[in-house]
Amino acid sequence: MSKQRTADSVTLLAIESSCDETSAAVVCDGVVLSNLIANQSVHEQYGGVVPELASRAHMQNIVPVVDQAMRLAAVDKQDLQAIAFTQSPGLIGSLLVGASFAKALAVALQIPLIAVHHMKAHVLANLINEPRPSFPFLCLTVSGGHTQIVLCKDYLEMDILGQTIDDAAGEAFDKTAKLLGLPYPGGPLIDQYAQQGNPNRFNFPEPQIRGYDYSFSGLKTAILYFLRQQQAEDPQFIEKNLPDICASVQHTIIRILMRKLILAAEDTGIREICIAGGVSANKGLRKALQEEADKRGWHAYVPEFQYCTDNAGMIGFMAYHQYRAKQFADLDIVPSARGNWKMAEM
Ligand code: KG4
Ligand code: ZN
Repeated sequence: MSKQRTADSVTLLAIESSCDETSAAVVCDGVVLSNLIANQSVHEQYGGVVPELASRAHMQNIVPVVDQAMRLAAVDKQDLQAIAFTQSPGLIGSLLVGASFAKALAVALQIPLIAVHHMKAHVLANLINEPRPSFPFLCLTVSGGHTQIVLCKDYLEMDILGQTIDDAAGEAFDKTAKLLGLPYPGGPLIDQYAQQGNPNRFNFPEPQIRGYDYSFSGLKTAILYFLRQQQAEDPQFIEKNLPDICASVQHTIIRILMRKLILAAEDTGIREICIAGGVSANKGLRKALQEEADKRGWHAYVPEFQYCTDNAGMIGFMAYHQYRAKQFADLDIVPSARGNWKMAEM
């Protein structure tokens, strides 16, 4: 995307390295000029992200990824007003690579540093492109490590209404995929197989959790026992039924996710509804959201695919609003694996 820069424009470089994607973006006045993402295929064979390998891959990727993001945006280092980076939450070794790189560049260029909360940036990904929700909106953020219902009142003002008490929705997809012998990350593959399968062929239990919270660990165990039992009767059960298993599991995860989102929308009276995070790329979830929106008079929003999974574009977009609010970080700031974001008092 191109953007006419003026004398008082704010141009930022953003770095995302919280998990297994190395990403860099250039954002000018809230417009994403470039958004480069390097995936790490090294984890596929292990069925999950290996933290030490992720850190090493970030170290190899970060210079070429930043270089290309700057070139694609046709921006020079001297044009930058600040450097933004993902400070939390994430894998600590991975976060450290991005944080160290960002600090070094901020010091060298003598420009401010902006520390961004990864999960809040996922929520704001909905505001990067048209059509945009208006404030306040609800966002179901579903990623590999988190599942949250967030009430977003403004760019920098958000509360968590509910979240998972154990596994995240993305983990439910990935762990199911592992049980089915599919490579990591399994979410996109389950999505793909599910499209040819029957979602009502197999039934899995839904958890009974209070309020807007979620739980996915019971589903994982139920799938494990179900597959064990079926394979004892027919060792080829998975091969013969893969699309139906994927469709049924996906259908259950989506039903669990939507039920609490509907509850939160009804209780708050908010009809601007968004989804975000890696699992928001799921075709079944996107369809279910639109169906509920049509039924309930919601305005539903989903980020562009490139802003669903981890990306620096969303980090730079949030950082732009932090820049405007003069929320700068000191150079002694350290990354945090868990991050600090309190639950809303309801
Ligand atoms: O937001 P994200 O890229 O990274 C984290 O912050 O965790 O989310 C990654 C998660 C993984 O669990 C992956 O399997 C899941 O998002 N995912 C999907 C799809 N695309 C990515 N899950 C279901 N369907 C998809 N199409
Ligand atoms: Zn993420």
